[in-house]
Amino acid sequence: MEQHNDDLLRNVHRPAFECFLSCATFFIFVLSRQIAAAPASLKEAYGDMFDVGVAIPSAMLSEAERLTLCTNFTAVTPENGMKADAIHPEEGRYDFAEADEVTKLAERNKLKVNGHVLVWHSQCPDWFFVDAGKPAGRDLVLKRMREHINAVVTHFRGKVFSWDVVNEAIADDQAYLRDSKWLSSIGEDFIEEAFVAAHAADPKADLYYNDYNIELPEKRAKTLRLLRELKTRNVHIDGIGIQGHWILDTVPFKEIEDTIVAIHSEKVKVMITELDIDVVPRRSGADVRDRETVGGGDPYAAGCPPEVLQRQARQYAALFAIFKKHADKIERVTFWGLDDGRSWLNSWPSERTNYPLLWTRDLQPKPALKAILSEAQK
Ligand code: XIL
Repeated sequence: MEQHNDDLLRNVHRPAFECFLSCATFFIFVLSRQIAAAPASLKEAYGDMFDVGVAIPSAMLSEAERLTLCTNFTAVTPENGMKADAIHPEEGRYDFAEADEVTKLAERNKLKVNGHVLVWHSQCPDWFFVDAGKPAGRDLVLKRMREHINAVVTHFRGKVFSWDVVNEAIADDQAYLRDSKWLSSIGEDFIEEAFVAAHAADPKADLYYNDYNIELPEKRAKTLRLLRELKTRNVHIDGIGIQGHWILDTVPFKEIEDTIVAIHSEKVKVMITELDIDVVPRRSGADVRDRETVGGGDPYAAGCPPEVLQRQARQYAALFAIFKKHADKIERVTFWGLDDGRSWLNSWPSERTNYPLLWTRDLQPKPALKAILSEAQK
């Protein structure tokens, strides 16, 4: 009889119990989605997919900046400290001070360092190309380039994970290679020679070619040509960096995706190396020597309209949707600066007040940061 009552009780309560169970499951599911919907940092959101990097001007960061850096990023690129004009201002005189600060900061905070940059037409002192007041010949420039690469790469061996060996060697116009002093003094093989010297100085470092606008079909084709030529000649190259200096409302999403796929299918690594989304109109490209004033000077000196920041957030999220989709192909995504106040786009191509990054000038998260973080959960 007692047994019978128990069964009765169980049957009566079963529907109620089942209802309770499904409600609880539902609430746990909703709660977990809620918690999961808000990763606290870029590193938490994307760190499993690829390295998330940032360019830093020097190691002289405030404590708040250092915290933001370490919470969000897994890699750093010295913004200027390893460029030839900073590190090798005169023949035979190296100044590693600023770059050493960056590598020490990275070591203390367990961040990977991408060395930027060994051979580039900009921020490179003239002495490389001059011999007793006249243009130096191929042999001398090649010797200087090799010595420079050897000294810099050797100095940072074991501290630098990867190098942008050659930057921006491809032409924006019809030509294959950019008309630069490296090209005119050494010849087309300056690129190959640079990679060979870098690999000899640190066989363990990853070696990359880095450039802007190479997502656009014509420059992309030339980049793939360069890559294939290097590989045919057995030159060691590990990857290609797409700089990613894009402009609000003209981000070439499809071309970016196509380029990620195209580079990956050449069996090398793909990186986005200098990401920012400029909100002040300018001409496309990122040649630091091009100065201009377009689009009416400094339209957002008094602040950036919220609507513009929202558009920027949506476009950043759309970019990260592509990066997430191709996470298996992408090695690293690096922002060119930590906060809006630190961006080079405040002074290039003209002086203006810009808002291209993920944190405000006083280190508050912008809508773009929130949009990128929630994109990770979709
Ligand atoms: C920029 C720096 O951010 C500025 O501080 C400097 O005055 C000029 O160079 N492509 C590159 C980077 O590869 O090295 C450039 O950095 C931006 C464009």
